[in-house]
Amino acid sequence: MASASSVTVKLNTGAEIPLLGFGTVSEDNVENFKEALTAALVDAKYKHIDTAWWYNTEPYIGEILESLDKSGKIKKEDIFITTKVWPCFWNDPENSIEISLKNLKLDKVDLLLQHWPVCFQKVEDSNGRVGLPKDAAGNILYDKNGDYLVTYKKLLKLKDEGKAKAVGVSNFTIEMLERVIKETNVVPACNQVEMHPHLPQLDLYNYCTEKGIVLEAYSPFGSSGAPNLKIPLVKELASKYDVTPADIIVNYSIAKKIVILPRSSNAERVKKGYKLINLEKSEVDALDQFGVTHPQRFVNDPWGKGLGFEHWG
Ligand SMILES: NC(=O)c1ccc[n+]([C@@H]2O[C@H](COP(=O)([O-])OP(=O)(O)OC[C@H]3O[C@@H](n4cnc5c(N)ncnc54)[C@H](OP(=O)(O)O)[C@@H]3O)[C@@H](O)[C@H]2O)c1
Repeated sequence: MASASSVTVKLNTGAEIPLLGFGTVSEDNVENFKEALTAALVDAKYKHIDTAWWYNTEPYIGEILESLDKSGKIKKEDIFITTKVWPCFWNDPENSIEISLKNLKLDKVDLLLQHWPVCFQKVEDSNGRVGLPKDAAGNILYDKNGDYLVTYKKLLKLKDEGKAKAVGVSNFTIEMLERVIKETNVVPACNQVEMHPHLPQLDLYNYCTEKGIVLEAYSPFGSSGAPNLKIPLVKELASKYDVTPADIIVNYSIAKKIVILPRSSNAERVKKGYKLINLEKSEVDALDQFGVTHPQRFVNDPWGKGLGFEHWG
């Protein structure tokens, strides 16, 4: 049976992006993370890594890519790399990309995303780290002078300067996409959002499909604990096709030409990869309809509240 790591879709830049990417948020220890990433690249033959400055995993990704390339197990240039600019860098994404490129040991990334359409102040927390600034009462410190459009424009400049082959966004609503397109005349190459059978976001899906914006599905299994793998229809289809529930969710996304970014720090699980099957259109529609009638968003970060996302909270 073919593997899901081999299929791609075209970005509006003309470049191909692999539909399966390895999610690199890590809750686990570094050694487990490195082992899982190695299994993804060497055994499961992933050709796409999704990372971000915020995840703190870029140094390990850079180390693994370099060592696998040196040992001839992979070719670094064959791997599609995405990184993202966190809201504390809203006004100086050039610093963010410099840090990411240094850690990843690259001179450019394939895709640079604006992580969130919000702007944080760049102040250190009590551990001397910037990222999620808060006042004494625990309220997030937004930059009142910030505008996410400024960040998008700066990312386009970074692409022109050769730091990224394509620029996209993450966590953008239709209204936000319309605004950046109207103001810059540049359609983002993709929009990375939470998307899965509990949250198909059909209006956003239709809008992005019409505009040629590739959607990327984050938290496809419902994040920690993988609740989406327990959806009865997913389990039913898994038994019909003799594959795992995770294979069904991956193929649901692939059938819709949505990039899917599952995460696992279980190297044995990662090694097996995901099987490529042909779900029937009626089955993909039924999975969509499940989400229409049972909508649930699993990642409700506080800075996303009030931004207009479907089924928040
Ligand atoms: N742009 C954004 O704002 C944003 C936000 C969130 C996430 N992301 C991206 O999306 C990626 C994935 O999202 P996520 O990390 O929230 O969660 P996810 O991929 O939906 O779920 C991860 C969970 O599923 C479990 N799992 C994986 N495969 C499994 C299997 N076959 N059977 C049972 N459990 C399984 C993992 O456990 P084990 O580790 O034990 O396998 C882990 O607990 C992230 O790593 C990141 O790259 C982006």
